[in-house]
Amino acid sequence: MDKIVVTGNGALNGQVPIAGAKNACLTLMPATLLSDEPLTLTNAPRLSDIKTMITLLQSLGAEAQLLQDGKVIALASHDVNNLTAHYDIVRKMRASILVLGPLLARYGQAVVSLPGGCAIGARPVDLHLKALEAMGAEMELREGYVHAKAPGGLKGGVLEFPFVSVGATENALMAATLAKGTTVLKNAAREPEIVDLARCLRKMGAQIEGEGTGTLTIEGVDRLHGATHPVVADRIELGTYMLAPAICGGEIELLGGRRELIGVFCDKLDEAGIEVTETRDGLNVRRRSNAVHSVNVTTEPFPGFPTDLQAQMMAALCTAEGVSVLEETIFENRFMHAPELMRMGANIDVHGGIAKVTGVARLKGAPVMATDLRASVSLILAGLAAEGDTVVSRVYHLDRGYEQVEDKLSALGAKIERISE
Ligand code: EPZ
Repeated sequence: MDKIVVTGNGALNGQVPIAGAKNACLTLMPATLLSDEPLTLTNAPRLSDIKTMITLLQSLGAEAQLLQDGKVIALASHDVNNLTAHYDIVRKMRASILVLGPLLARYGQAVVSLPGGCAIGARPVDLHLKALEAMGAEMELREGYVHAKAPGGLKGGVLEFPFVSVGATENALMAATLAKGTTVLKNAAREPEIVDLARCLRKMGAQIEGEGTGTLTIEGVDRLHGATHPVVADRIELGTYMLAPAICGGEIELLGGRRELIGVFCDKLDEAGIEVTETRDGLNVRRRSNAVHSVNVTTEPFPGFPTDLQAQMMAALCTAEGVSVLEETIFENRFMHAPELMRMGANIDVHGGIAKVTGVARLKGAPVMATDLRASVSLILAGLAAEGDTVVSRVYHLDRGYEQVEDKLSALGAKIERISE
């Protein structure tokens, strides 16, 4: 298994191109199942999760291929001949559940393995199922699979989510585009990835209003046609790299970054003493003084502070002046990076969903283990300014969500290399 060795090497300067959003691409790809015409996605990120979704769609009989070195994904679903998404693929990537809504809406039935939990939590899908039941689907759980039927097709319905769920909103939104009548989704997720999905579905002929607000109204249509759509920039990759100069000093420009993708995060960086300015090509980031200030963070659904940037922010706050408190409200077990950062000399107290971080002068490199996607990159960020070498193992987690990390950081002057063992 590969490892990544990072050696503290002073300030970082230069430019980082921001790729298309993994979490947008993973919901845009299943949308191909809603139409028998080609769907082409451009600005796609080159990640292992995308390849897993390609494999899943191909297993259903859809055409799915990567073009232009993975920047373009060509999809078509005129020959779907299998309505079962098998556990051996679904267990590798939870986003596989997002084929359920489209299959049900277009074919009136689907058998999808329950994804199972992951390192950061149990990750149930009950809201996905309830949303589709509200549109007339019949659900039966049998031997780890969801057996879903909508013999007369889905019908529009009104559903209020008890709490915000990105994936359940995406499944319901896609299913509603072909349901008979009107569907209203209340307390829907507002993430930029949902807005991107709605824009793509509208290009395919869907009638949707309200994306980006908490209420989505969808008028079902008989069929959707093909489209070509650019994947929105990845706000989590963007926020991750914005923290590099916060930790190491220096000044970097994030090409393709847009403040509206991470407004609250930029405000929090400003509070911590990190200056973010808009440029013609993206966002410029630099630390105002030689250390960040401590800040308090509570993760919330968009537009609040993203849970997917909590681990990276914790890494930056390990060497802040003062004491910071991070509250994780979205997932029940998303502090697994804390013990690894403590191996590097960080001073962190974790109690339940609260982590108290007392800044230390400098971290020391150490062998550490990646436990999940965002934890893995937080350890790399910490290693960029630590004294000596940090060796991060299990970097397959990293490759799921970050395109060419070593190249992008090396271009900024970081000392980082991948070693295969
Ligand atoms: C999406 O996961 C993202 N993944 C996650 O990113 C992200 O952390 C999360 O949204 C929150 O922003 C993709 O888009 C592929 P949720 P999702 O449904 O849709 C609970 C990353 O690092 N819940 O908004 O699974 C759930 O357990 C990944 O890129 C239910 O209880 O998140 C969680 O506690 C990690 N029942 C909370 O709701 C359900 O039916 C929010 O989950 C669904 C969710």
